[in-house]
Amino acid sequence: MYEKIELMYSPARQGEILKDKITNRFAQIMTHGQFIMGQEVKDIEKKLADFCGAKHAIGCANGTDALTLSLMAIDLKPNDVIFVPSFTYSATPEAICLLGGKPYFIDAEADGFNISLQSLESSIKEAKAQGLKIKGIISVDIFGEPCAYDAIKQIADSYGLKVIADAAQSFGSVYKGKKIGALGDIAATSFFPTKPLGCFGDGGMLFTNDDKLAELLRSLSQHGKGDNKYDIVRIGMNSRLDSLQAAVLLEKVNIFTDEIKKRQELAAYYNEKLRNYIATPKTLAGNESVWAVYTLSHPKRDEIITRLKAKNIPSNIYYPLPLHKQPAYKDAFRASSLENSERYSSQVFCLPMHAYVSHEQREYITANLIEILESV
Ligand SMILES: Cc1ncc(COP(=O)(O)O)c(C=O)c1O
Repeated sequence: MYEKIELMYSPARQGEILKDKITNRFAQIMTHGQFIMGQEVKDIEKKLADFCGAKHAIGCANGTDALTLSLMAIDLKPNDVIFVPSFTYSATPEAICLLGGKPYFIDAEADGFNISLQSLESSIKEAKAQGLKIKGIISVDIFGEPCAYDAIKQIADSYGLKVIADAAQSFGSVYKGKKIGALGDIAATSFFPTKPLGCFGDGGMLFTNDDKLAELLRSLSQHGKGDNKYDIVRIGMNSRLDSLQAAVLLEKVNIFTDEIKKRQELAAYYNEKLRNYIATPKTLAGNESVWAVYTLSHPKRDEIITRLKAKNIPSNIYYPLPLHKQPAYKDAFRASSLENSERYSSQVFCLPMHAYVSHEQREYITANLIEILESV
C-alpha cells in the first residue's frame, strides 16, 4: 500500500523542479518592491495570451472576480438573466447574484457532465415566453472538458446573447484546435492552487479577442480607472493579480505543457483500464482536455469511495448537491428538468489526477478500483 497518493496536485514534486527558480523571482520582487502591478504581471499576461492564442489577457484576483468582471463588462443589469449549468461550482451563479442578476439553471447532458444544448435552448424559449430579460450564457468547461462552443455560439447568436466561458477548470484544454481562452466573448479562468495551472494563493485571468472589452475589463479590475488611476470613469473593483503570484505562474507555465501531456496520458490509461467496468468520461471529438478532474459516475459511489479510502486511494465528490438544490439558490430560475445534474451529484466520484501520479500508483489505483467495481 502506498503511503500517500495525492488527489489533485503535488506541491512537493513541483517544488523539487521549481523551488530555486521561484525563490529567485521572489528575491527580485523584494528588491524592486512593485508587489502590485509589477513587471511579472505584464509578463505573465503576455505569456498566457500567447499560450492560448487570445489577443488580450488581463490578470485579476481570482476566478470568481474574473466572472464578476466579465458580467460587468457585458453590462449585466439587475434582473437580467444568465443561463448557467446547475452542475458546477457555486462561484459561477454567485457572480451573477452579486450583481443583482438572475441565474437560470440548465441541466447537464445525459451522457456527459457539460451543459445540455437541448436544456439550454428550451430554457431560453421558456424565459422569453415569460418575458424575462435574457442577457447571456456562462458555459462551464466542467472538469476541464471544453463545451460544444460552436453550437453554444450559434444558439447565443440566434437569441442575441453573450457567451462567457467559465474556464476555471479548463485553461490549457483545446476545442477544435483552439486553446481555451480564444473562445467565447470573454473567457475567465482561476489559478487556485489545485487548478491545472495554479499559483500559491488566489489568482485569476480574463481573455478576450475584443479590444473594447479588454480595455473595459482592465478598467473595471482597477476601480474603473480611465487614463490614469485617479481618473475614475466608472464603478469598478479592486481585483488585481499580484506580482508574487505572477512570478509563480511564470515558472509553472514553463512546465505546464509537459504536465498537460502527463495528465492526458493518465486519463488515457484510466480510460483503457476501466472501460470494461464503468462508463469512462465522455469527450467531444476534437477536444483535448487538461483533465482538471477525472470523474466517474456509479450508483454505489459512496461504497466505492469508502473502499478506495481503505486502500489509501483518495477520492472526492465534485459536486455533492446541484446548485438548484442549494438553499442560497432556492428562488433561482431553472429548467423544467434537472434530472441529469441531480443524478451526477448523487453518483460522481473522482480519481487522483495530476502530472505526478507514478506508473506504480496508477496500476495500484486501477487494479483496486476494478476489484471494487466487480463486487459492489
Ligand atoms: C467552475 C469554476 N468556476 C469558478 C471558480 C472560482 O475560482 P476561484 O476559486 O479562483 O475564485 C472555480 C473554482 O474552483 C470553478 O471550479
